Amino acid sequence: MDKLIVKGGNRLTGTVKTSGAKNAVLPIIAGSILGETPSRLDEIPQLEDVKTICGVLEYLGVKIDSSEDHALTMDTRSITAYEAPYELVHSMRASFVVMGPLLARVGHARISQPGGCAIGSRPIDLHLKGFELLGAKITQDHGFIEATAPQGLKGADIYLDFPSVGATENIMMAACLAEGTTTLENPAEEPEIVDLANYLNQMGAHVRGAGTDVIRIEGVKHMHGSDHTVIPDRIEAGTYMIGAAMTHGDVIIENVLVEHQKPLLAKLREAGVTIEEDIDRIHVTCPGELKAINIKTMPYPGFPTDMQAQMMAMMTICRGRSTVMETVFENRFMHVVELNRMGASIETTGARGALIEGPAKLTGCEVNATDLRAGAAMVLAGLVAEGKTVIGNLHHIDRGYENLVGKLQSLGADIQRIKVQE
Ligand code: EPZ
Repeated sequence: MDKLIVKGGNRLTGTVKTSGAKNAVLPIIAGSILGETPSRLDEIPQLEDVKTICGVLEYLGVKIDSSEDHALTMDTRSITAYEAPYELVHSMRASFVVMGPLLARVGHARISQPGGCAIGSRPIDLHLKGFELLGAKITQDHGFIEATAPQGLKGADIYLDFPSVGATENIMMAACLAEGTTTLENPAEEPEIVDLANYLNQMGAHVRGAGTDVIRIEGVKHMHGSDHTVIPDRIEAGTYMIGAAMTHGDVIIENVLVEHQKPLLAKLREAGVTIEEDIDRIHVTCPGELKAINIKTMPYPGFPTDMQAQMMAMMTICRGRSTVMETVFENRFMHVVELNRMGASIETTGARGALIEGPAKLTGCEVNATDLRAGAAMVLAGLVAEGKTVIGNLHHIDRGYENLVGKLQSLGADIQRIKVQE
């Protein structure tokens, strides 16, 4: 088992390059199933979650060449299975996003029911409602969800009660090979949805309106593979921006699509952070004291829930009373206890609200990552805490941050990864 050792007090200075977006690459890898010829994907981040979903596709018969750094070739000419087993799906619930493309391509999909996780129950009712409206028959037994459409899928008008990212991706991919037109109302509008739609259209699909509040998909009979370069990870980039602000550093984040960062940039500026925007890079400095701010997480283009934990770490050292309202997930405050153990002054108000009094004097101690973004928040807090912070449960962090230690070390952080005897 590994642990991170972070010694607080160093300013982050220098340049760091953002990797490809985890939350774009996972549905895009799944979407390659729709193509009857190979695809080549570039800017693939080296993450555990990418290895997991590649394992699922290889189980289904896809041949994957990952010999080249940050690239994948997906040979999807023959799909030889329609079932994704528990041992592959349970470690990453996002594997469920293979159901839509598999159902569309082979007319049958049997996926182990994805469990909940630390941040919430993570239901899939909206995914299943969409598949049924497209004509699939859904059954649930022995912990599996099975969808069949022996006569193929038919276009439909679908309204999502909540703009679910995963449901939007799954339904959009299923609709690509349906007969007729599908209208998806109230879809997720995240940049990762747009990136997926661009890849699907490069494969011969007809998807229009991704990134808006109505997506229209005209079904086609066949799709082919395509080359695609994945967009940069806006959450990874945002995490380094907050690290620069908290340490009063001077950091340039490269490979950033500034238009994807608007809500975070607005909040950082409100807190007194200096942000200079360039075409594909952002320069972050924070000469003065950080000021308290209020955030409310919302579906895109609102403030991203995936930045909530990291922002809360910053709020612990902002002067004044900050507030957080988490509207997307029902249990995304696990980092509160861990931050309070480091000396933060955070009080939760119900399951979705938190009050943060600052600036607190954070001191290093033993903490654990409870989920991916909470783990990032602990690292950020460790960068400014007095003394040594030891962070466990690193598998959460490995899922979503490529080379976190190396990137932070290159910015001057005192951070090491050590092996600890079980
Ligand atoms: C995606 O998860 C991301 N994961 C999450 O990032 C992100 O936090 C989330 O979108 C919201 O932006 C990937 O893209 C792999 P949702 P997803 O379906 O698709 C409810 C990270 O840290 N809901 O938009 O699972 C659900 O309970 C991860 O990178 C239903 O009620 O999120 C939740 O409250 C964490 N029924 C809300 O919608 C459904 O059928 C948002 O979920 C589906 C969802």
